[in-house]
Amino acid sequence: MTLKDYYGIKMQKFIISKMQTVDIDDVFHLEEIVHPNHHWSKESFYNELLNNLSAYFCIRDEKQKLAGYIGIWKIIDEAHITTLAVNPDFQRMQIGQALMSQIIEDCYKSMIKYITLEVRESNIPAIKLYEKFLFDSIGMRKNYYQDNNENAIIMFTQNIWYDKFKNNFAIIKEGITKIEVEYCK
Ligand SMILES: CC(C)(COP(=O)(O)OP(=O)(O)OC[C@H]1O[C@@H](n2cnc3c(N)ncnc32)[C@H](O)[C@@H]1OP(=O)(O)O)[C@@H](O)C(=O)NCCC(=O)NCCS
Repeated sequence: MTLKDYYGIKMQKFIISKMQTVDIDDVFHLEEIVHPNHHWSKESFYNELLNNLSAYFCIRDEKQKLAGYIGIWKIIDEAHITTLAVNPDFQRMQIGQALMSQIIEDCYKSMIKYITLEVRESNIPAIKLYEKFLFDSIGMRKNYYQDNNENAIIMFTQNIWYDKFKNNFAIIKEGITKIEVEYCK
């Protein structure tokens, strides 16, 4: 029993589900908030949902407010995180970790071995989040981002089936205690 159970404190509940076309207005609204100068279009999200290689998830609170979203492409045994955003109203509440956990479980189901992504070199919160999941920086794409010519750091996991990654992942999932999360099956 946790202290929260003992004192009867109710944790805020969040539900993760597959992103659908009905989510796109909310997703696009959040996209404009988190990336005001360089966001995806609505059409990009529609196209992503039609792509057989992709998996996109939304996380909402019990009042259906969109707290965040994440997307990946799965190509043979490698997955590429294409987007991740948490609503500023819900940041630092472990939503980012819950979304990462959702896609990692999805990668295990799809027999993926490695997960990769690009991140702006100035984006310390995101880099710290990925490092927590044992992503390593393995290189840089110079001037990758067109809006400000910022460099992208390329990050990769080791094989996600190795004990080191699995054990760390189990510890992170167990540590998601600030919120109650219903994951997407
Ligand atoms: C990066 C982002 C997804 C993190 O989401 P979040 O829900 O706030 O993250 P969590 O609460 O799950 O935190 C997980 C870890 O991320 C890191 N982190 C998150 N925010 C951080 C911050 N402001 N500063 C430093 N580290 C931070 C920490 O390592 C944290 O673990 P800790 O709490 O044990 O220290 C969120 O800040 C965001 O949406 N940013 C804007 C969009 C973006 O940058 N997306 C990524 C594009 S590659």
